[in-house]
Amino acid sequence: MSLTELSSKPEADNSVLQIWGKQTLKGHVKISGAKNSALAIMAGALLCPDDFRLRNVPSLVDVTRMGQILSALGIKLERNGDIVDINARDIGESKAPYELVSQLRASFFAIGPMLARLGVARVPLPGGCAIGARPVDLHVRGLQSMGADVQIEHGMVHAYVTGPNPRLKGAKIYLDYPSVGATETLMMAATLADGETTIENAAQEPEVSDLANFCNSMGAKIRGAGTNTIIISGVPRLHSTDYNIIPDRVEAATFLVAGAITHSEISLSPIVPDHLTAAIAKLRDIGAKVILEDRDCLRIIGAQSHMATDIETLPYPGFPTDMQAQFMALLTLSEGTSTISETVFENRLRHVAELNRMGADIRVKGNHAIVRGVSMLSGAPVVATDLRASAALVLAGLAAEGKTTIKGLHHLDRGYDNLEDKMRRLGAKLQRVQDDAVADEAATAPATASVE
Ligand code: EPZ
Repeated sequence: MSLTELSSKPEADNSVLQIWGKQTLKGHVKISGAKNSALAIMAGALLCPDDFRLRNVPSLVDVTRMGQILSALGIKLERNGDIVDINARDIGESKAPYELVSQLRASFFAIGPMLARLGVARVPLPGGCAIGARPVDLHVRGLQSMGADVQIEHGMVHAYVTGPNPRLKGAKIYLDYPSVGATETLMMAATLADGETTIENAAQEPEVSDLANFCNSMGAKIRGAGTNTIIISGVPRLHSTDYNIIPDRVEAATFLVAGAITHSEISLSPIVPDHLTAAIAKLRDIGAKVILEDRDCLRIIGAQSHMATDIETLPYPGFPTDMQAQFMALLTLSEGTSTISETVFENRLRHVAELNRMGADIRVKGNHAIVRGVSMLSGAPVVATDLRASAALVLAGLAAEGKTTIKGLHHLDRGYDNLEDKMRRLGAKLQRVQDDAVADEAATAPATASVE
């Protein structure tokens, strides 16, 4: 079945998620492949004309959309479970279609590989989103330093290398900010450039290292990924590979919080412990128990009551911004006052209003949230504003008294692989219904699936 036909879930236009709180969770949950690795690595497919195989690809709307964008560029994709076979032999058109790109920022990742392989790329300028303006100036400046001419007009980024041999040149690049996307765009572009490229002040996120390992498995020469200095020696061509994507550390952290916020004991695998250092440290800080059961399995034992703590989001290895909303949900019920500072994105505290609707006591001052612990949350109708905010509302719903109804599920489906099924298998009581059914539906809680 081609990836473009396979959508993990139809757009949840008017469905809502109903959650009956206060259920204790129990059992084990399997963590899917990392969304933010899969999206960058799929774009990396454009670098190589040979067949190759990706394993542990999560089933998400964003992955399906990336597949649609790559297909529109001439790439062939076949999906079978969590395996995706890709062939980028015939890239038909160096222009990603606007109606698709506008729905998925990560499609901008196509610009580096297209430019490296073809010497030309036309990609719509990604717009902002709920959490911030999301500029791409660092991507553009880096490509220009590698010899690309980049024009931005009418919402399109036209990038091209002039001259008889349209090949990017190696360059020494300093990033004003350790941008994940810019690091990945420039690293991919440099794999086929003429000469050596150095990226200083590079992002160190695990997904950057995963992309570097993927490119190296195709014959690229990348050193230093995972540190703030990455050196890439350009090669003339890459070759096929069979590559396994790392587990999703943000999904794992979401389930760790689910265990803590419901005072439950659950285990999760596979995980990479080093990718969760900040999350584990904060959970232990507030009194939860986190045990490494095996090299790739964690067990969380929630305490009967948790203490407050302070969180500041930072580039890796600092506390991840993608885990901020989930931890805020947890801290609304801690004893004492926590402060959460969001330093990565300028507008990533929009879940505060919705958590307050559930009885939380949070005040926002600039990019800081002051979270005064309360003794309970109460279920309420709430609206998700972005991907990680939707996860935070699910977690709050698991802990709240009564029923929570969450709208805006398209955010959730973009970034979580069957979250409801996984929560239900742990004993949570939740179900997805069509919105119009909510009005007249008897509030009967669904039977809980048997815990395996
Ligand atoms: C990646 O986004 C992730 N997305 C985000 O995950 C994650 O939150 C973010 O990295 C930070 O870790 C994917 O990998 C697909 P950035 P990205 O470039 O690359 C500014 C999720 O929930 N900036 O590191 O867009 C930017 O405005 C998503 O899974 C520039 O100013 O993040 C932001 O303030 C959300 N100019 C900061 O850097 C640029 O050219 C961090 O952005 C690029 C970025």
